[in-house]
Amino acid sequence: MSSLSRRVKIVEVGPRDGLQNETEPISTKAKFAFIQALAESGLQEIEATSFVHPKAIPQLADADTLASRLEKIPGVIFSALVPNQKGLERALQAGIKKIAVFTAASETFNQKNIRMSIETSLKEFEKVVTQALKAKLTVRGYISTAFVCPYEGDIPREKVLDVAEALLQIGVEEVSLGDTIGAASPRDVQETVGFILKKIPAHKLALHFHDTYGTALANTYAAMELGISTFDTSAGGLGGCPYALGAAGNLGTEDLVYMLNRMRVETGVNLHKIFQASSLVSAELKRDLQSRQWQRLKAQSADDNPSAVNRKSLFKEEP
Ligand code: COA
Ligand code: ZN
Repeated sequence: MSSLSRRVKIVEVGPRDGLQNETEPISTKAKFAFIQALAESGLQEIEATSFVHPKAIPQLADADTLASRLEKIPGVIFSALVPNQKGLERALQAGIKKIAVFTAASETFNQKNIRMSIETSLKEFEKVVTQALKAKLTVRGYISTAFVCPYEGDIPREKVLDVAEALLQIGVEEVSLGDTIGAASPRDVQETVGFILKKIPAHKLALHFHDTYGTALANTYAAMELGISTFDTSAGGLGGCPYALGAAGNLGTEDLVYMLNRMRVETGVNLHKIFQASSLVSAELKRDLQSRQWQRLKAQSADDNPSAVNRKSLFKEEP
C-alpha cells in the first residue's frame, strides 16, 4: 500500500465516451445539466463532447452549441475529442481549452474508427497538435485498443509503446491508454504498462478501462501499484464503443470513487454528487445505469428500503 499514490486524478468521460454510445437522442439541455452537475462534484477535468464528424457520432452532433455554452468554472477543465484539423477549428471556435486526439494500437481498429492508418493519423495529429499548442491549448492523446483489439486480438506492448512515444513526440501532454473492449486483466496491465513505464514516466500516462468483463477495478488497482495516478471513468458506468461491438461501459466514476475513499486515496470527488449527476442521465434514458455504486445508491435512496438504510450506518464510506 505504501507505494500507492495518495491522490488520484479522475478524468470524467461520461458526457463524451458515455453518451456517444447512446442511440436515443439526448437533448443539449439535458447534456448541459449533466455536465454542470458533474462540475459541482469536485472533478477537475470533464471530457464534455466530441468534434468528430456528426454522421460518425450523431449523438454528439451538438458539440458546437454545447461547448460554447459551458460556463467557466474555476478549477474545472472541459475538454473535447478532436479527430482532425476540421475538429480543431470547431473546438477553437467553441472556446475549448483542452483537446484530445485519438489513435489506436491496432491498425484495423483505427481504420474502422477514424478511417486512417496509425501512421496517417499521427501525421494528421502532428499538424493538429502544433496548431493547438500555438493556440495555448493542452492536448491529451488516446490510444484505443492498447491491450486487446476486437479485430486483431492481443496487442503487442511494443506497438503500444511506439504509438505512445510518437504521440508524446508530437507534443501531447499525456497519453491515455484505453482498454476499449474492457477485456484486459491485471496481468495485461502489469505487462504492457510496466513495459511502457521503462520509457515513459507515470505522470505522462492515464489509464482508461472499460468494464465489459468485470476487470476494470482490478486493472485500476494493478495500474496504481505501478504508480499510475490518473484514470478515466464515466459517471454511472455509461459508455461502450460504437466501433467495438459488445464493449460495455467505462469503469463507473462512482465505483472508483467509492473504492478510493475506502482506501483513503484522495480524489476530491464527492460520490453522492456523481450519483446525482448520473441520475439525471438515467431519468433521461429511462433506465438504470450500470455502475455498482449507482445501483446501490439508488436502492439505498428508496424510502421503502429500511434494510438498506440500516446497512448504511454500519460503516464509513468515506474516511
Ligand atoms: N467535423 C465535422 N465535419 C468533418 C470533420 C469534423 N471533425 N472532419 C471531416 N469533416 C467533413 C469534411 O469537411 C468533409 O465534408 P464535405 O464532404 O462537405 O467536404 C467530409 O467530412 C469528409 O471529410 P474526410 O476528411 O474525408 O473525413 P472522413 O469521411 O474520412 O471521416 C473522420 C474521418 C475522422 C472525421 C470520421 O471518421 C470521424 O469523425 N470519426 C470519429 C469516430 C469516433 O468518434 N469514434 C469514437 C471515439 S473513440
Ligand atoms: Zn472509453
